[in-house]
Amino acid sequence: MKFFIDTANLDDIKEAYDLGVLDGVTTNPSLMAKEGITGEANIKAHYKAICDIVDDNVSAEVISTEYEAMVKEGRELAKIDDKIVVKIPMIKDGVKAIKTFSDEGIRTNCTLIFNAGQAILAAKAGASFISPFLGRLDDIGANGLDLIEQIVQIYDNYEFETEILAASVRHTTHLIQCAEAGADVVTCPLKVITGLLKHPLTDSGLAQFLADYAKGNK
Ligand code: E4P
Repeated sequence: MKFFIDTANLDDIKEAYDLGVLDGVTTNPSLMAKEGITGEANIKAHYKAICDIVDDNVSAEVISTEYEAMVKEGRELAKIDDKIVVKIPMIKDGVKAIKTFSDEGIRTNCTLIFNAGQAILAAKAGASFISPFLGRLDDIGANGLDLIEQIVQIYDNYEFETEILAASVRHTTHLIQCAEAGADVVTCPLKVITGLLKHPLTDSGLAQFLADYAKGNK
């Protein structure tokens, strides 16, 4: 299972990378705006800065929504670094662009997936990753995890090579449920990754070990 961090914050990316468990980064226009990164040149420079931290798999999202413009923009993003994965929304022109990128050997992440039909279409077009948004489905009273399980089964049935990148993962339980369901990748904020470290019995057990060592080594 791969861990991606879902942020454009360089400090968070460095912290997760230094932990030694990070396989990639996902961003989106909202996350870039949150870091105050605006303007084409600054956005490209920021993607490059992210690529310089991690080993691979940096999703960079296109803003265009029409086929020709998406392909032009995606090719430009892909030129930034070999680690770039072009992130494309699940819309008609996006599916066509994914097919073009697949033919050109440019990796893609099809984002904003909310049902199994969209997941099938993206895989047929040759997406490298698809991003079903768990948390946002939960937000509207649906069950995001059901969708992950359904896509895992469908992709297994047909041996689709597209990787299931569970997105909008909001807490450690989500992450563990995605692992149980067989998602290939999860993307989540730093606090979800570091949240995996925590158990009160680990803390109290370590405190006891250290106290006993101190007693015996006065
Ligand atoms: C995925 O690529 C998205 O950036 C992200 O996971 C969305 O998460 P949110 O629903 O918490 O904004």
